[in-house]
Amino acid sequence: MGESRWWERGVVYHVYPRSFKDSSGDGVGDLRGITEGLGYLSWLGVDAVWISPFYPSPMKDFGYDVSDHEDVHPTFGTLEDFDALVAEAHRLGLKVILDYVPNHTSDRHPWFEESRSSRQSPRRDWYLWRDPDPRTGGPPNNWLASFGGPAWTYDEGTGQYYYHAYLPEQPDLNWRNREVREAMLGVLRFWLDRGADGFRVDALRQLLKDDRFRDNPPNPSYRTEGSPYDALLPAYSTDRPEVHEAIRRMRGVLDGYGERLLIGELYLPIDRLVAYYGEGGTGVHLPTNMHLIPIPWNAREIASLIERYEAALPEGAWPNWVLGNHDRSRIASRVGAAQARVAAMLLLTLRGTPTIYYGDEVGMHDVPIPPTKIRDPWEKNVPGRGLGRDPERTPMQWSPETNAGFCPADAEPWLPIAEDHDRNNVSTERDDPASILTLHRRLLALRRATPALSTGSYAPVPATGDGLAYLREGDGRRYLVALNLGRDPHELAPDAGSPWRGRIVLSTHPDREGEILDGKAGLRPDEGLIIELHP
Ligand code: GLC
Repeated sequence: MGESRWWERGVVYHVYPRSFKDSSGDGVGDLRGITEGLGYLSWLGVDAVWISPFYPSPMKDFGYDVSDHEDVHPTFGTLEDFDALVAEAHRLGLKVILDYVPNHTSDRHPWFEESRSSRQSPRRDWYLWRDPDPRTGGPPNNWLASFGGPAWTYDEGTGQYYYHAYLPEQPDLNWRNREVREAMLGVLRFWLDRGADGFRVDALRQLLKDDRFRDNPPNPSYRTEGSPYDALLPAYSTDRPEVHEAIRRMRGVLDGYGERLLIGELYLPIDRLVAYYGEGGTGVHLPTNMHLIPIPWNAREIASLIERYEAALPEGAWPNWVLGNHDRSRIASRVGAAQARVAAMLLLTLRGTPTIYYGDEVGMHDVPIPPTKIRDPWEKNVPGRGLGRDPERTPMQWSPETNAGFCPADAEPWLPIAEDHDRNNVSTERDDPASILTLHRRLLALRRATPALSTGSYAPVPATGDGLAYLREGDGRRYLVALNLGRDPHELAPDAGSPWRGRIVLSTHPDREGEILDGKAGLRPDEGLIIELHP
C-alpha cells in the first residue's frame, strides 16, 4: 500500500469551541475546556481535532467574523491557553487543525475600518468596493448574500458598495491584491509557528470572484421555500478558476513546515470538487466531500455516490467523507438513532479520511430552539425555513447532570441542552457495551489496528434494495462491510461461485460478534457488520 500520510490513516474530530466544554463557568465553551476534553478524544481514538474559530470577533457569525486573526477571543481564553492546548494535544499524539477564514473579515477588523475610512485609504483595495450601478443607482450587480439579502452594502461615507458573501458585518477581502495575500498567508505562518498541524479553510469556493463582476444567472430549479440565496446560480461569485492559484500559495506555505494538512471547506458537485486537489496535487489535501449530508438515506443512492466519487478522484488524490458539521442538521436527526449507528460504520469504513462532528458519537441530535433562544443570524434573517444552525450547535453532552457537565449547574449555557442528555452522554455511555459511543470507539480501534480499513483498497459489492456492501483489502487481509439501511431484514449474497467465508469482527448490535459466516450475510433491520474474510 506504500507510505501513507498521517491524515490518510487518521480520523478528524470537529469541535465547535463555544459548545464543547466551558471551563470558566460563563456558559460558553473555551480553549481550556477543549484541553480538558483532549483525554477523552484520545480515549475515543481519533487522530486530529479541528477547532472552529476562537479568534477575536464581534461574534455576529459566532467567530467566523474575525477581527484579529492572530489572537484568541477573551471568551475562549488567551494565546497561552492555545499553547497549552497544543502541548497537551501533542503529548497525547493528537494533531490540532485550525479554522482559517481567508475570504472575509469582520467589519470591525482594523483593515476594514481603514478601508472604509476613505476612497484614498491605502487599504481601500483590500476589500471589494464598487460604484452603484449607473442605470439603477442600486447595487453593482445581482449577487446575493448566503444568509439572505443582497451581497452588497452601501457605505454612506464613501458613496460605494462593498461586497460580502455572508453578513454585511463580514466584508470579503480582495485576494487579487498582493498585500492582502501576503497578510493572509502570514496568518498561516503565525499559527504554524505556534504548532498548528493544519487548517480547514473556510468558505474556499468564495475566495475569488469574477473580475468583471457579471450578474449570476437564475437557478431554474429554485424552490421558493428554500434558502433565498439559491434563487441564483453563483456562477460568477464562487468557484472561479483563479482560486486554484491562491490555494497553491497556501500549500506553498504549509509545505515549508513538513507534513501539515490543508482541508478546504467546499460544497460543490463531485466534478468541480475534485478540481480542488489541484494540478499534480498542488491544491488542498482534502476538499471536503459533503455529499453524504444532503443525500436521501437510501442504499442505492449512497452506492452510486461512492462509485461516482471514487471514479472522479484524480491520480494520487486521497478521499474524505463528512457526515455532519456545525452548519447542517445532525446525522441522528436526519436518519434516526438506529441508522445513525449504521452511518457511523459507513463513515469509519469507507476509503478516505472521516470527520466526526462533536457529539455525534454519543448520539446527539438537533435540539429544538425556542424563539427567545435563537442565536444564529441566518435563522434571524430568514426565519422559519429550517436554515438556522443553532439546533446542531448545542452543548456537548458529557454527563447526566444539570447542564450535561458542559458548564456548572448554576450557569446558563449559551444554547439549550437536549432534554434526553441524561441518556445520551459520555459518562453514561462509556461503559455500556451497546452504546453508540462504544460502537464509535470500537470502530476507531479496529480501523487503527487494521490498515485494510484505513488505507486499504475499496471495491463495491453488488447489492439490491436496502443493502450496501463493499470490500476493503490491504496488508494481506480482506474485510466485507455489509450494511442494512432499511427497517426490514436483508440478505446479501456474494456473486455465484465465491461464497463468503469469514468471521464477524464488529457489529452495530454486539451480540453477533465472533459469529462465523459461510455463504451469505443475513442482516437484521438497521444492522451493519464488518466481516473478516478468510484468505
Ligand atoms: C462557513 C462556515 C460557516 C460560516 C461561513 C462564513 O460556511 O462553516 O459556519 O458561517 O463559512 O464564514
